[in-house]
Amino acid sequence: ESASPLYSLSTEARYSPPWQDLSIIGIAGSSGSGKSSVAMEIVKSLNLPWVVILVMDSFYKTLTSEQHQKAHANEYDFDCPESIDFDILVDTLRDLKKGKKANIPVYSFAEHQRQPNTTTLYSPRVIILEGILALHDPRIVEMLDVKIFVEADMDVCLGRRILRDVRERGRDIEGIIKQWFEFVKPSYTRYVEPQRPISDIIIPRGIENTTAIDMVVKHIQRKLQEKSQNHTEALRKLGLVAAEV
Ligand code: CTP
Repeated sequence: ESASPLYSLSTEARYSPPWQDLSIIGIAGSSGSGKSSVAMEIVKSLNLPWVVILVMDSFYKTLTSEQHQKAHANEYDFDCPESIDFDILVDTLRDLKKGKKANIPVYSFAEHQRQPNTTTLYSPRVIILEGILALHDPRIVEMLDVKIFVEADMDVCLGRRILRDVRERGRDIEGIIKQWFEFVKPSYTRYVEPQRPISDIIIPRGIENTTAIDMVVKHIQRKLQEKSQNHTEALRKLGLVAAEV
């Protein structure tokens, strides 16, 4: 008994347009481990159109005025999962996966809050999701094609964080060190490090590790190629692409 054409179309050779084939790569790791440099290096090496870095900092929750005061005194915990609006992040990634555009919040580290403006992101081909807790939420982990964990010595991380926070985030050294020992370091042990075993690839020494980054890029390229082959195969089954001879 043969199935109706409609039946076989929906079960065997469902056509999914390329923009629904969005790949998401998650990069987690300690603050100052070099996640953002690794993400940028991957973008450069992939050398493809429509590769976008999505920084999880854009999804910090809005603070009450009391929390705001604490934040300015370096007494607010920005390193626990509760400080991030995972629900909005999950909805955003799901929308992008459906090919919809999304409005990404713009975050100010100096003011500890979202800015009134947002950035419009049209569904790209690859998203690199970068953040200390990029592999924390199972709803996100389920959507990831590649899971990366960047590692660096904690003293290197602290050194980098001090320089960056003073230069780029309007902070003072006393405050940075207080926040590090009160929140950042304990959270590393409690939430960040436990993501390590679920990652596909661990990059020791972050951006310095060009061999590991090369391997990551090749792995991503292979995954993208597999996806595009599946896509062509689906089209071929529908008779939309001429078979190779
Ligand atoms: N954070 C902060 N103040 C805020 C919001 C976040 O100090 N208002 C800090 C958190 O304490 C958290 C860090 O920002 O530890 C997250 O950013 P981080 O991972 O350090 O920066 P990236 O550039 O994303 O990563 P990397 O340093 O690894 O390149």
